[in-house]
Amino acid sequence: MLILGLETSCDETAAAVVEDGRRVLSDVVSTQVEVHRRWGGVVPELASRNHVMQVLPVIDEALRLAEKPLDQIDLISVTSGPGLLGALLVGVQVAKSIAFCRGVPFVGVNHLEGHLMAIRLEENPPDPPLLGLVVSGGHTSLYDVPRFGEYRLIGSTRDDAAGEAYDKVAKLLGLPYPGGAPIDELAQRRNPRAIRFPRALSAPGVFDWSFSGLKTAVANHVRRVGAPRGDELADLCASFQEAVADTLTKKLIAAARKLKRQRLLICGGVAANSRLRALGRQRAEERELSLYVPMPKHCTDNGAMIAAAGFEAYQRGVRSDLDLNANAAWRL
Ligand code: KG4
Ligand code: ZN
Repeated sequence: MLILGLETSCDETAAAVVEDGRRVLSDVVSTQVEVHRRWGGVVPELASRNHVMQVLPVIDEALRLAEKPLDQIDLISVTSGPGLLGALLVGVQVAKSIAFCRGVPFVGVNHLEGHLMAIRLEENPPDPPLLGLVVSGGHTSLYDVPRFGEYRLIGSTRDDAAGEAYDKVAKLLGLPYPGGAPIDELAQRRNPRAIRFPRALSAPGVFDWSFSGLKTAVANHVRRVGAPRGDELADLCASFQEAVADTLTKKLIAAARKLKRQRLLICGGVAANSRLRALGRQRAEERELSLYVPMPKHCTDNGAMIAAAGFEAYQRGVRSDLDLNANAAWRL
């Protein structure tokens, strides 16, 4: 079965052709980062307009690279929430139009389920039950997944998402938007113990996070000593990154022990982070747990993960109707 996956929930216009929900034939991501950079964050109206301009060329490119014409596509899978309403509507409308014109089924997929399903694109992916942590620009949410299609939220952030903290701290330090990758790069050069930033940890048995205190601690540090440069900037990035990776992995491991889950998954844009991947792996190994993380390009937003999630949903009998609407606040 050939699936066309479409993703337009935020600032990437993405399309991918995936065979049987596992084999990626093409994976095209057109990022709007340059459009939003001067504003220091995503401007919803600009995002929608750019999706309108990009969506058809991106789909054409995905079909071309996969060497599959549109009439060979068996299923359309599209992110229908959560995200920016105007941005989501572009993908949903295009998916519906193609499905209607070609007479093929389509499914609206939850963006977070897409992130969780990105692991299906790897070789030897884990089967449920598993514990999945989605860490992105909009979410820090921990799900118990007894089977695909069933997601029990067992913890989340009480304020900023982890990626949001990266982006805000980057802005504070004068680094480009989005802040994850530039902070990660600087952090790898220097000392994660240079500055002891606070770790906000919820009570034992509670699997929630908070990142706004950490962000304020960075702001206070900058106010006290001035905007750091060179090695000092890299030290600050390493110390901030350590605090994020430390709290994320600590709670994930604690939840695994409490719920007796053996297989762990970290996904979403922040899962591309080098320190989070390394520390997660180290802590899982110490406790003889298996940690799975998608390859970095499948951690950040992409169409292939949406195709993977759509395929799984389709196998479970999920179908969407032409009256499907975008749901900006869809909770998984
Ligand atoms: O999943 P994603 O592409 O979009 C959302 O669904 O939000 O995640 C984007 C987030 C941004 O906040 C970005 O700064 C962060 O992922 N990110 C990273 C890294 N690469 C992207 N954060 C930390 N380290 C990275 N290497
Ligand atoms: Zn995302």
